Amino acid sequence: MMRNGERSHGMDLRGKTALVTGGTSGIGLAAARLLARAGADVVVTGRDVQRGENAVHGAREDGALWFVPADMADLDSVAGLGRRSGPVDILVNNAGAFPTGLTVDQSAAEYERVFDTNVRGAYFLVAALVPHMLEQGEGSIVNVTSLAAHKAFPGASVYSASKAALASLTRTWAAEFAAGGVRVNSVAPGPTRTEGVLAAWGEEGNDGVAESLGLQRTAEAQEIAEAICFLASPRASYITGTTIHVDAGGAVL
Ligand SMILES: NC(=O)c1ccc[n+]([C@@H]2O[C@H](COP(=O)([O-])OP(=O)(O)OC[C@H]3O[C@@H](n4cnc5c(N)ncnc54)[C@H](OP(=O)(O)O)[C@@H]3O)[C@@H](O)[C@H]2O)c1
Repeated sequence: MMRNGERSHGMDLRGKTALVTGGTSGIGLAAARLLARAGADVVVTGRDVQRGENAVHGAREDGALWFVPADMADLDSVAGLGRRSGPVDILVNNAGAFPTGLTVDQSAAEYERVFDTNVRGAYFLVAALVPHMLEQGEGSIVNVTSLAAHKAFPGASVYSASKAALASLTRTWAAEFAAGGVRVNSVAPGPTRTEGVLAAWGEEGNDGVAESLGLQRTAEAQEIAEAICFLASPRASYITGTTIHVDAGGAVL
């Protein structure tokens, strides 16, 4: 029995529902699998239905995972996701667009797509789902930002600015929701080996960045997912408004 002032610091998420956007690949899928292994019912989203169904099928031994299709760049789709996922206790804003392009070459359409996906989609999903968390006096939101939100990379202007916006929202949301018992934090990954990054930037893109970091290697998705699950869980019960940099020392070394 818990005494006055004591808290559970376990990783037992039984009875909790989690929503992981972009949970059908890479970092999001690794986080969804860890959350499911801890006992949470996990909804994962993505645009590609086949990919989503394959991801859930491949993770069935980890626990309870469901796929709900949604496009975070589309406001109607985000509203539909808010309704279909139902009330959640844990929200991981992970889906992201990460194209490269020099500022002088950027098209307005691409600029909008990145901000619509990485910022607007997360913003209105939080607006839809946080009232339930506040009502129950408990909840955890984890935003997946990037090393690029904290450090300059030529050719990543729009992406970096969108992730810096999400880092800023982390602080504002933490301030707005703290009194209601809802914690909001960010995980800022460094270069991580995922399907999406390999497809967009190739093997060399991430490896080149990794060479300049303290630990001089890329991360596996699982290494980022560990920090996401920690922040989502009661083990991080006194942490809000902050960022865990999972980046081989990239932001400071
Ligand atoms: N990998 C890295 O080096 C790295 C470093 C720093 C930060 N990050 C961040 O980590 C997050 C995950 O990246 P990842 O490397 O794991 O990517 P990934 O392997 O490409 O996975 C991306 C996931 O997001 C979904 N997604 C993409 N656009 C979406 C949209 N408009 N609406 C809904 N879902 C969408 C994808 O599914 P569909 O394609 O089917 O929609 C997929 O499930 C991103 O926010 C990224 O910016 C990654």
